[in-house]
Amino acid sequence: MNRRNFITAASVAGAGLVIGVPTVACSSGGQLAKPAILGGTKAFTGTWPGWPVIDQVDETELVNVLKSKSWCRLGGKTATRFEEEFKKLTGATNALGVSSGTSALYTMLGAVGTGPGDEVIIPPYTFVATYNVVVLNYALPIFVDSDIETFQMDANKIEAAITGQTKVIMPVHIGGSPFDIDKVLEVAGKHKIPVLEDACQAHLAEWKGKMVGNWGLAGGFSFQASKNLNSGEGGVILTNDEQFAKNCYIFHNQGQGGKATSFSTGFGTRGTNMRITEFQAGVLLAQMTRVVEQTKRRTENANYLTKLLNDIPGIMPAKLYKGVTRSAYHLYMFRYDKTKFAGLDLSKFLEAMHAEGIPCSLGYGKMNKDAYVTDLAKNPHYLKIYGEKTMKEWLERNQCPENDKLVDQAVWMYQTMLLGSKTDMEQIAEAIRKIQKNATAISKA
Ligand SMILES: Cc1ncc(COP(=O)(O)O)c(C=O)c1O
Repeated sequence: MNRRNFITAASVAGAGLVIGVPTVACSSGGQLAKPAILGGTKAFTGTWPGWPVIDQVDETELVNVLKSKSWCRLGGKTATRFEEEFKKLTGATNALGVSSGTSALYTMLGAVGTGPGDEVIIPPYTFVATYNVVVLNYALPIFVDSDIETFQMDANKIEAAITGQTKVIMPVHIGGSPFDIDKVLEVAGKHKIPVLEDACQAHLAEWKGKMVGNWGLAGGFSFQASKNLNSGEGGVILTNDEQFAKNCYIFHNQGQGGKATSFSTGFGTRGTNMRITEFQAGVLLAQMTRVVEQTKRRTENANYLTKLLNDIPGIMPAKLYKGVTRSAYHLYMFRYDKTKFAGLDLSKFLEAMHAEGIPCSLGYGKMNKDAYVTDLAKNPHYLKIYGEKTMKEWLERNQCPENDKLVDQAVWMYQTMLLGSKTDMEQIAEAIRKIQKNATAISKA
């Protein structure tokens, strides 16, 4: 089950719209009990929280937009209200609501003037949107290998990937945990290359007490349905650079400046429509009344789960860099070492976890090796712009051996699960211990 399918399934299964906190005690009889996949009792006895959470506030905000009959931000007031609140929440001096996380990244790259002949540094361990926005600009995506311990782009490998063509470094705060911001900014500063943060999964995450999206030239966030802050689709750009904020506004508004419809053009020679709607902004204003509390709960549960899982040989929760003062925990990610589970294959481990009532999945694939990406070397436009030799060399450059190892071991759990109770976390750990004790029997089944 991929991430989006899971969220849908969880929402349906969650039934109630307000998060439930199951407090039922363990019923599987301890870690030596028979695993559910072999006919035993499930380790998980509760109900996972549903997503999204809504109440009267959401209804009021939506109906207000509906009745205002101003549904477009040009003329409406709700998008501006949302941007003001998001600035207060994150400490940034500029926030621009956009139609999606992809739109946020595309707008930032557009406002920086990315185009054919440019290279953009990205990680391979990310959602494909990070890659797509580069290719939509006919720029070359350059993959920098992962740090297997943290699942983030390995900032120590960025410098070797920089060339005279590098236009932007766009690392991702994957899983909602900050990448090594100090190291990335140091390398970028040395080479005078702007950093655009893909913060699509990292709402309210902090590095040294300051929220992500505030560190590079700008940061882009997603409000797609699975995200920790959700309006179905939606996004926002944060920046503390006034001119860049204006350039983003103009790019996302068909090349036109100003807060109203205008026929005068502004910055650059390209633009599009990436505007947020008043409805999205209304939902976000309501959702934001809960986001701080939800983030706090995820962090507490994730920290507790990490403490429990660190005691299980062969389970390696993604580590956080020293500068991280808060992870958003959009995903709870860990590595699975099958040699500590009597050789039990990862796919069988996941099956056993599902049987225990614990949803989890494999996560991302090896994006740099996927045909969707490697076929770029055959794309007629790319061949016209870069030539056959450069595209062949590009394929050779995009090797990420550490990421290959990471993908073979990675397991994800989801932000909604971290909204559960302490008991839920204990039952996750109990399920894993049970599977480990019975790994040989499960392998044979
Ligand atoms: C890392 C990352 N970048 C970009 C995006 C794109 O955001 P959206 O789906 O809102 O377009 C996502 C969303 O899943 C993401 O996880």
